[in-house]
Amino acid sequence: MHSHPPFPSMPFMAAYAPLLCLFKGAARRGPGSEASTRQALALCSLPDRPAVADLGCGSGAATLVLARALQVPILALDADGAALDDLWDLAGAQGLLPLITPCPGDMAAPGIPRESLDLLWSEGAVAPLGWRQGLAIWKDLVRPGGFLALTDATWFEDHPPPEAQRAWAQWYPGMGTEASNLQVAQDLGLEVIGHFRLPRQDWWDYFEQAERQCQLHHGDKSLTETIAAIREETDLYRRAGHSYGYVFYILKKA
Ligand SMILES: C[S@@+](CC[C@H](N)C(=O)[O-])C[C@H]1O[C@@H](n2cnc3c(N)ncnc32)[C@H](O)[C@@H]1O
Repeated sequence: MHSHPPFPSMPFMAAYAPLLCLFKGAARRGPGSEASTRQALALCSLPDRPAVADLGCGSGAATLVLARALQVPILALDADGAALDDLWDLAGAQGLLPLITPCPGDMAAPGIPRESLDLLWSEGAVAPLGWRQGLAIWKDLVRPGGFLALTDATWFEDHPPPEAQRAWAQWYPGMGTEASNLQVAQDLGLEVIGHFRLPRQDWWDYFEQAERQCQLHHGDKSLTETIAAIREETDLYRRAGHSYGYVFYILKKA
């Protein structure tokens, strides 16, 4: 048992309260996998003892993989204090607490000194800032020669099914294509080291876990709409998931 005072949540997260409540206790809050994290990490040539931060870390799905692989402290920042509580518990159970520095904060203004990081990681979290804005803020935190490794929801087709267009217009209006996202990165002076689509299995593992959370909260009236929305998202992916997905982008600061 590694008790600690609960990490505070940022006030602006109140709007997401039902979603955060639904995912409390879940090890992953978006599509991804240890294999995909490791595949991206292998593309980053890092110095000994790199300075690493995981922004929008959630309960640490990637943070814990990075800590195990690199054996260095990872700054794990999220606006949801309850997610950081989960990360704390998971890190304790895996013997990784000494390597995890949980940091409640806003990834738009994370308070990380300029050019202090060798590696900035973020899976599934850049969307609220938008790809261009997120990269523009985050690249300043990375040293010249350092890396940014991010996943972002991305269109795979020029003419996605209308139902997918309607849904993503609400969830992530500025969602780009691989080509447009790579162009933005290059416009901001970042070198593209690699990019790859997350396998569909990473989505199904996430949806399976989300469904387990829905069943856990079955009957909770405050979560009825949120549970319905998650199930609609799953159904949409089943029908139209060929037209969008997450892409891992591995970028280097010149
Ligand atoms: C889709 S989840 C991904 C979490 C984790 N990276 C994963 O892959 O499981 C997005 C995360 O971003 C966090 N987040 C959203 N807006 C944020 C902000 N402005 N500052 C910090 N974290 C934020 C949410 O609390 C959530 O944990």
